[in-house]
Amino acid sequence: MAEITISGYGDDLTVNGVRIGDLSPREHEEIENRYGGHNYHPLEDVVVSHVSNSSTLICRVPDPSEVRAYVEKEIIDSLCCYSAVNQGQLNDMIVKAVIAHLEEERIPTVPRSIRHKYMSAFLLAATAITEMDRVVPKVAGVEAPELMFKMARRWGYRVKGIPADKAIIVGARGNFHGRSMTAVTFSDDPDSRSDFGPFLPGIELVPFNDPEALENLFREKGDRIAAFFAEPIQGEAGVHVPDDDYWPRVAELCREYNILLALDEVQTGFGRTGKNFAHQLYGIKPDLMACGKAAGGGILPVSFVAGSDEVIGLLTPGSEGSTFGGYPLGAVVAVYAIKALVELNLAEKARIRGAQLMDRLLSIKENFPDKIKDVRGKGLLTAFELFDERRLDGHKVSLKLLEHGVYAKETHHTTVRIAPTLTISARQIDRIADAIHEVIAGL
Ligand SMILES: Cc1ncc(COP(=O)(O)O)c(C=O)c1O
Repeated sequence: MAEITISGYGDDLTVNGVRIGDLSPREHEEIENRYGGHNYHPLEDVVVSHVSNSSTLICRVPDPSEVRAYVEKEIIDSLCCYSAVNQGQLNDMIVKAVIAHLEEERIPTVPRSIRHKYMSAFLLAATAITEMDRVVPKVAGVEAPELMFKMARRWGYRVKGIPADKAIIVGARGNFHGRSMTAVTFSDDPDSRSDFGPFLPGIELVPFNDPEALENLFREKGDRIAAFFAEPIQGEAGVHVPDDDYWPRVAELCREYNILLALDEVQTGFGRTGKNFAHQLYGIKPDLMACGKAAGGGILPVSFVAGSDEVIGLLTPGSEGSTFGGYPLGAVVAVYAIKALVELNLAEKARIRGAQLMDRLLSIKENFPDKIKDVRGKGLLTAFELFDERRLDGHKVSLKLLEHGVYAKETHHTTVRIAPTLTISARQIDRIADAIHEVIAGL
């Protein structure tokens, strides 16, 4: 039998004689390289230890004097776990609810085959915040678009009358919906797809922000198309914001051709873009919507699909399920994540702080027109794009920002996303902008 000893908490947590509080950033990296899959490229020489305030992290970095294994440094978190921590780290309302739930209520986990009383609270809160008829809980973000995809196909066959196995779901180029086989079938990023085929049939892509291309496809194959499936603003692609009239036109086309509008709001939802959900920026309403990330308040993975009676009403026992989808602790966390979103006015905060950040980013662009190609965003989902030159590499910029006390991470080499918590202060926004200014000036 394998020999294993585990003891202690925090820095004293010791596994088979290795105490984690003793490890240097380099040793953490070596353990990950030796024992993990190499599916991420984290910033070098930095390890997060704990949270300081709702928008900052305490990190361990190499000790310049090389006497200790590391020194600690506070940094502003400008990525906030890809928008999973909109409510701020360790949000008080959510943490209190979790502690009370575990210590007083004492019901972490039961399966969906027996009712638990917190599901009602979750369904009431989630349908109210999304203004949708029904909600189905899942766990990881990717599971929400995955279910949305299945729902759209089922609606295509049972309501629209598409011949069996002939349904098409249309996606947008540059999309990101996660890492399941459905999501990577949608993807047109070679890194996500290489040697994972064969892919799912029945998916076609059109350029994002191009209503004419969509209309042409609808005209050609509309009878077989069940849904247009897209992010309202493309986050992972580098924060691509469509023209203001794009979504109203798409919604009109979907109505005209009897095609569902299925929006993946896993990254754009929960206040991130200045509205509770990004589609509200454009005055439209989808038939289906996928939520995740901040649906779990940065505490637990929680996701869900919200939608109309007509579509979600097609689910039948056995057709879908998830052991942890909507389990009591997850349900309570989601309810309090929604409470924090509403009571802390997070969408409005994102709008105000986002405007402050955008002003600063635009003036940095004006100061360095030869370095910054574009600045984009809505609310606190923002990014700046560098010209594609060797000296302007996004990974190098991320490392330099870290030296200036800001954590941000490049996406697609030339773009750096800035998406801090929605609880961030005006001073912290200024500190992020000052750091960006200094780093860009030094390139
Ligand atoms: C729009 C969108 N959908 C789905 C996902 C997948 O979420 P997860 O990584 O939690 O599975 C992401 C993650 O970045 C996303 O941005």
